[in-house]
Order: sequence, then C-alpha cells, then structure tokens
Amino acid sequence: MAIGEYKPGLEGVPATQSNISYVDGKAGLLEYRGIRIEELCVHSSFLETSYLLIFGELPTSAKLKEFEVDITHRRRIKYRIRDMIKSFPDNAHPMDALQTSVAALGMFYPLGDFHDADYIYQATVRLLAKVPTMVAAFHMMRQGNDPVMPRDDLDYASNFLYMLNEKVPDPLAARIFDVCLTLHAEHTVNASTFAALVTASTLTDPYAVITSAIGTLAGPLHGGANEQVMMMLEEIGSVDNVTAYLERKIERKEKLMGFGHRIYKVKDPRAIVLQELVHKMFDQFGHDHYYDIALELEKQAFEKLSSKGIHPNVDFYSGLVYKKLGIPSNLFTTIFAIARVPGWLAHWKEQLSDNRLFRPTQVYTGLHDVTYLPIEHR
Ligand code: ACO
Repeated sequence: MAIGEYKPGLEGVPATQSNISYVDGKAGLLEYRGIRIEELCVHSSFLETSYLLIFGELPTSAKLKEFEVDITHRRRIKYRIRDMIKSFPDNAHPMDALQTSVAALGMFYPLGDFHDADYIYQATVRLLAKVPTMVAAFHMMRQGNDPVMPRDDLDYASNFLYMLNEKVPDPLAARIFDVCLTLHAEHTVNASTFAALVTASTLTDPYAVITSAIGTLAGPLHGGANEQVMMMLEEIGSVDNVTAYLERKIERKEKLMGFGHRIYKVKDPRAIVLQELVHKMFDQFGHDHYYDIALELEKQAFEKLSSKGIHPNVDFYSGLVYKKLGIPSNLFTTIFAIARVPGWLAHWKEQLSDNRLFRPTQVYTGLHDVTYLPIEHR
C-alpha cells in the first residue's frame, strides 16, 4: 500500500468512521447522535445524554430509571482504592490521581468478554459511577479529611458537588453543573478520544482505555486548558491590564489559553452555552470580576486573532462557572474527565463493534547502514 502524505498532528486525516457525534467547525455546530447540543442542554440530563451517546438512542423512562439506579448503586469505591488514594502526595495533580485511580480500578474488575453486552454495560455503569467518587475522594483526602460517602438520594451532579465539601448544593447550581457535564460529554475524534480508540483497538480492558484518555486529556493543549485559563485571568488581574497582556502574548508568539481549536474556526458553540450559564450563575450567586476580564480579552482578541479563525473554545468560560460553584481550579480538568467518560465509552463500544488494530506508519527521516562505533572510539 502506498504511503499517503504526512500530515502533522493527523490534521484532516479520518482515523475512524463514527456515528456518535458531529462537528461543523465553520457553522459552529455540535450534535450528539444527530441532536444539537443546545437542545440537549435544555431538555436532557447528563445521564440521559450519556445513555444516548453510549447506546445510540434516547432511553425510555424505564430504561433511564434503570440506568440511573444502576449508576447510583455503584458509586462507592473499595476501601483498598480509598487507601491507595490516601497515600498519594497531597500536592499531586488531581488528574494524575484520577488516572492512577482508574488504572487501579481495572485490577479489581477483570477483563470480560467483549461480545457479552452485560460485561460492556457493567463496565460502563461502573466507570460512570466511580470516576466522580475517586475525584472527590482525592480532593477530600489531600486536605487531610475522610472522603465523603456518596448519597443515593442525590442525583449525579448534586452528589458530586456534595462529595466535594459535604454540603448539598443549591438545585440551580447542580442543574447548571449538570449542563456543563452534558456540554463536555463528547466531541468526535479529539486527542483523548483518539488515545482511547488506539488503546481500545488492542482489546485491552476498558479501565486501561479510560486511563489512556485521562492522561491525554490532562495536557494544556487539550482539557488542561480550562485550569490554565483561570490562571491566565488571575495573572491579568484587572480589565485595565488586558491590552498589555494581549500585546505581550502576541509579541512573544505565545498562545492564549482557551482560544483556538483544530476544528472550530468560529466561536465554539459550547463556549456560547457556557457563557449563558455564567450569566445564570451570576444572577443567582453574584458577579465575579474575572468575567469582566474574560469579556474584555475576548473582545480584544477578536480584533487581533479572529482573522486566523481563533475564537474562544469550550475551556474559556467553563472555569468561571466552576469557580462560582466553589470548585478549586486544579479540579477543573477532572470535571472535564468526569464529563467525557460517556464519550470515551461510546467510542470504545463503537471500536469493539468493528475492531482493527491501530498501527499507522511513519515517514522515516533517519540514517541507514550506520557502522557501530565501539565505545572507546566515540
Ligand atoms: N492563541 C494565539 N494564537 C493561536 C492560538 C491561541 N490560543 N491557537 C492557535 N494560534 C495560532 C498559532 O500561533 C498559529 O499561528 P501562525 O500560523 O501564525 O503560526 C495558528 O494559530 C495555528 O496554530 P496551531 O497551533 O497550528 O493550530 P492547531 O490546530 O494545532 O491548534 C490548539 C489547536 C492546539 C487547540 C491551539 O489553538 C491551542 O494551543 N490553543 C490554546 C490551548 C487551548 O485552549 N486548548 C483547548 C482546546 S479545546 C479542547 O481541547 C477541549
């Protein structure tokens, strides 16, 4: 087979066929299984959307109830996993803690038969249920506290927020958080999903698949950008400093965190929904001056960078919502991970249905026929 043209970062190269989600980067459109994200944010819940992504259709109310109950009943983590998390360094990054915890989960639930729908369902439910618990457990234990046990009477979003500080959240705050999860649940073949696909294609277990994806999401060019955005807004400090900050960034050819996207050449539709959520949060819980800085930065960046198709992406406004919810910024990317679990699992399931091992080729740029030089002659 002839080797095709090398595309750095595989830009524009289809890596798979998929019917899970669709992005139109020029129109600013994102659909999950054909349904526009804006519609899901208004009418659906994160768990219903997860079901849609993973099983390909919206559930009946009986199916949704069963899915929710199954997840609720599997939220607890084994004491051995809790003990392991307790031994992590307090200053470990929560994404590293989560990646290690998910990898460890795989030791407790052995590999099953990929043709067995029940095995797939149980692994799916377990990962959706336990990832938030592991994030919250590390957060509590790094502060020297016992982890907060999940509460079966709380929905998915409320329970996660509750496990972070043992306070039942305001219902509006929980609903807004649930919408944030829905918004981040899936996004075609991005870097972490591609990592998941490659790992899945070796027929390893689903915990290894999600572990790979988490490691990939953590980087600042991908999911790690939401934490970096908050650091950037803090560094700017006030609206008056925006112009100088932006000029400095452009002069040094440094990237603005939360801006730009491989696919979107207009404002990311998720950033638009997130901005609406920011307004809702502020109406209810008070304004945050970092939003004024973000708005001014977006305005000035538009003048300087929009001709290159650089606009705010999903990570630009998400941190402002999480901050208002009282979540520390180094947990932001773990929230992205919690939200993306259904997307990764949907791709895992799709990959298994028609698997072929990923094994691309390379353009070799090295030497040939080099004579080995003995160490004393080097
Ligand atoms: N700020 C300033 N300039 C930018 C930015 C940015 N955030 N992003 C891209 N550019 C510029 C580049 O400097 C380059 O300019 P040039 O042609 O003059 O050299 C041009 O746009 C193309 O940039 P690339 O990095 O090649 O584009 P790519 O498609 O690889 O970029 C990426 C995508 C990695 C997301 C990039 O925009 C970026 O690094 N953004 C900041 C990090 C970020 O917010 N990541 C989150 C993305 S969303 C997500 O993963 C969930």
